[in-house]
Amino acid sequence: MTDAGIAKAVELLRAGELVALPTETVYGLGADALNPAAVARIFALKGRPTDHPLIIHLPPEARLDDWAAEVPPAARDLAAAFWPGPLTLILARGPRVPTAVTGGQDTMALRVPDHPLALALLRAFGSGIAAPSANRYGHISPTTAAHVQAEFGDAVPLILDGGPCRVGIESTIVDLSRGAPVVLRPGAITERDLRRVLGDTGERPADGAAPRAPGLVKRHYAPRTPAELVDSAALPARLAELTRGGRRVGLLVLGTAPPTHGIALPADPAAYGRGLYAALRELDRRGYAVLLIETPPGDAAWRAITDRLRRAVA
Ligand code: TXA
Ligand code: MG
Repeated sequence: MTDAGIAKAVELLRAGELVALPTETVYGLGADALNPAAVARIFALKGRPTDHPLIIHLPPEARLDDWAAEVPPAARDLAAAFWPGPLTLILARGPRVPTAVTGGQDTMALRVPDHPLALALLRAFGSGIAAPSANRYGHISPTTAAHVQAEFGDAVPLILDGGPCRVGIESTIVDLSRGAPVVLRPGAITERDLRRVLGDTGERPADGAAPRAPGLVKRHYAPRTPAELVDSAALPARLAELTRGGRRVGLLVLGTAPPTHGIALPADPAAYGRGLYAALRELDRRGYAVLLIETPPGDAAWRAITDRLRRAVA
């Protein structure tokens, strides 16, 4: 973490260029949130449809009222409880925020990331940085600087290297723009955590009145290798079946014993989440014909991981 790196990053952002930055969840591909031309570069480089809104990352000192048109008490409570941290709040877009960032919507996504390098950059920049995950559209989110390099090569002028991401999966997204809070994307901050702060106004099921979260497409976070989610009990039979057909099969299993062909991740949701995207990238790299992913336990602590795995195999 060098001051020179931060200064260079600020200079690039002010000039409307892109900078990749670490956060505690995944690496982001950042641009000045108030500069529509800079934001357009993000969409172009990722190959992302321009109606998929971006998250604006704020320094901890930022005032929500400077960004949002309306700040309900629940938003202040959640920000006080979880920022900096892996929680994104959807609020009504304030007049300064260009619609280029919000995919044309009148709502926007805000979060203060909990990573020392991201915080140093945001403080030095002194404004919002729009940043989606730093991967090509639909691909696996990056959790190391090397992953970002593998996605974009030299097309990103600067990648700040903050080491491997501590959380490893994307932030929890909560919509507060239409009354009762709704979880749009599960993450490390669980519904239980949210309810502890909000009381029983916590999550209600998403329904027709809930805003669409245009980035939440069915197939996402996906390896290039075809993959299947398989229950533990059914795994040996499915493996035998595919192998008999002459296919090279890569396994992603739970536990401490790596299989001959594949990877084991710890049977603990935090540790599993930290390792998941690197494991999927490594399995992709090994060139298997098919990946079999052991279904994680069904309890609430695994919800965010199950969500990502379902999308990865969709
Ligand atoms: O952990 C994270 O959230 C990472 C790091 C870099 O902060 N960022 C991230 O960004 O995952 P991205 O672009 O890959 O996902 C942003 C999600 C999308 O699913 C998008 O639909 C949703 O945020 N989103 C953004 N603005 C929204 C809005 N106004 N209404 C509904 N959903 C929104
Ligand atoms: Mg993404």
